Amino acid sequence: MSDVPFDGVLITSMPTASNDPSPTPDHPSNRPPTPLTGRRVRAAIVGIGAIGGGSHLPALAQLAEEGETEIVAAVDIDADAVKRFCAEHGIPHGYTDLDRMLAEQRPDLVSICTPPTLHRDQTIAALRAGAWVWCEKPPVPTLADFDAVEAEEGTETGGPYASIVFQHRFGSGSRHVRRLIAEQTLGRPLVAHCQTTWYRDTAYYAVPWRGRWQTEGGGPAMGHGIHQMDLLLDLLGPWSEVRAMAGRLVHDVETEDVSTALVRFENGALATVVNSVLSPDEVSRIRIDCERATVELTHLYGHSNADWSVTPARGTPDADAAAWRDFGADVPSSHLAQLRELVASMRAGERPRSSGADGRTSLELIAALYKSAFTDTTVRRGEIGPGDPYYTAMHGGAPGWAPVPAQASAGTSEEIPA
Ligand SMILES: NC(=O)c1ccc[n+]([C@@H]2O[C@H](COP(=O)([O-])OP(=O)(O)OC[C@H]3O[C@@H](n4cnc5c(N)ncnc54)[C@H](O)[C@@H]3O)[C@@H](O)[C@H]2O)c1
Repeated sequence: MSDVPFDGVLITSMPTASNDPSPTPDHPSNRPPTPLTGRRVRAAIVGIGAIGGGSHLPALAQLAEEGETEIVAAVDIDADAVKRFCAEHGIPHGYTDLDRMLAEQRPDLVSICTPPTLHRDQTIAALRAGAWVWCEKPPVPTLADFDAVEAEEGTETGGPYASIVFQHRFGSGSRHVRRLIAEQTLGRPLVAHCQTTWYRDTAYYAVPWRGRWQTEGGGPAMGHGIHQMDLLLDLLGPWSEVRAMAGRLVHDVETEDVSTALVRFENGALATVVNSVLSPDEVSRIRIDCERATVELTHLYGHSNADWSVTPARGTPDADAAAWRDFGADVPSSHLAQLRELVASMRAGERPRSSGADGRTSLELIAALYKSAFTDTTVRRGEIGPGDPYYTAMHGGAPGWAPVPAQASAGTSEEIPA
C-alpha cells in the first residue's frame, strides 16, 4: 500500500447542485476529446462505494484484461478508503479532488458513482475536461439539471457525451425483445405492466439522506423503479401521456413510498406502472402483450435469458414460436454489457445509447408521474419545460409533498393526499 502514489489532497468543499463548476487554469473548459485509435481508453472511477467498487471496477477491469481500457485513477472524499482501494486494485493514482484528478490524469472516461446530488456538477466538470461520462442512476435530480448537463456535451466534435447507467437495457434478453417489438414480429404491442415492487424497512429509511427530495431525488419512482420504467420505454418506444397517484403509506419520509401510473405510448399501447418499497414479495417485472405473443420478464436486480418468457397466441406456427424463444447466447444484463457498447461508441465518436434524449426519456416520465400525482391531472410528454415547477423540482412545490421548514412541518402528515 505504501508504494502506491497518492495524489490526493483533502478538500474542504465540493461542488453542490447549486454551484456551477467553473474551469481553473489546470482544468481548461471544453477540452476537445483526444483520439482513441490504437490505444486503451483511460478511465477513472469517482466514488468508490458499493456500486463504484462492486460494479464499475469489475466491468472496467474486465475490459482492461481485454486490452480496451486502463483504470488510471480513483477519486473519493474518503482519503484512507481511496488509498486502500488503489493499492488493492493496482490503480496508479488516488485523489480526493475531482478537478485535480481531471487536470492531472486527463481521463477519456469518468465513471460517476457518487450520491445523486453530486452527479450534475461532477458530470459537467468531467465533460469540460474532455472526458466522456458514465454516470450512475438517477442521472440528476431534475430535468433542468439534465438539460444543463446535455448543453456541455461535445455534439459538434464527436464527443464527449454523458451517458447514464441503465444496465437493464443491455444483455441478450432485452436486445432480442427490443428487436422483436421494433420489427413488429409479434404484431402491435397493446398492453403492458411494469412493476418494481420491492421492500425497504424502517432501518433502511433511518439513514438521514434517504426518503428526502434534496438528497435522494425522489421515492421509489425515482430511486428504485427507474430501471424497470427505463427498460419499458426502451422496449416500447416513446410515451405520450401519464396519469398517476402517489402515496406515503408506511414510512416517515418526505417523498412517496408507493406510486401507480397509467401510461399511454405513441404507438397506442397502454401500460400500468407500480413502484413500491412496501411489497414483502419483491419482484421486478415487465409484461408486454402484443397481438401475437405475450413477453414477460421476471427478476429482481438483473436478468439473463432464463428470466424471459414468450407465450405465443393460440394458432402460432411452431417455427415462429421457436424463433421468438431463441434469445441466442446468454449475455446477462450488467454494467459490463453496457460498458462494452459505451467504449465502442467512444471509439466511433458516436452518441452512446442512454445519453441525450434517449437517456432523458425515463427522467421525464418520472417528472410527469410526480406532476400528475400531485396535481391530479394528465401530463403529456414535452409539457414540462422551463417555467414549470416540475422542471426544477420533482416535488414541484406541491403542498403536502414539497419539503417544508421544520417548525411548520409538525402535524401535517394526516393532510397529505394519497
Ligand atoms: N445501477 C444500479 O443498479 C445501482 C445500484 C446501486 C446504487 N446505484 C447508484 O449509484 C450511486 C452511488 O450509490 P452507492 O450505493 O454506491 O453509494 P455509496 O454510499 O456506497 O458510495 C458513494 C461513494 O461516493 C463517495 N463520495 C461522496 N461524496 C463524494 C465526492 N464529493 N467526491 C467523490 N466521492 C464522493 C462516498 O465516500 C462513497 O464512497 C447512487 O446514485 C445510486 O443510486 C446504482
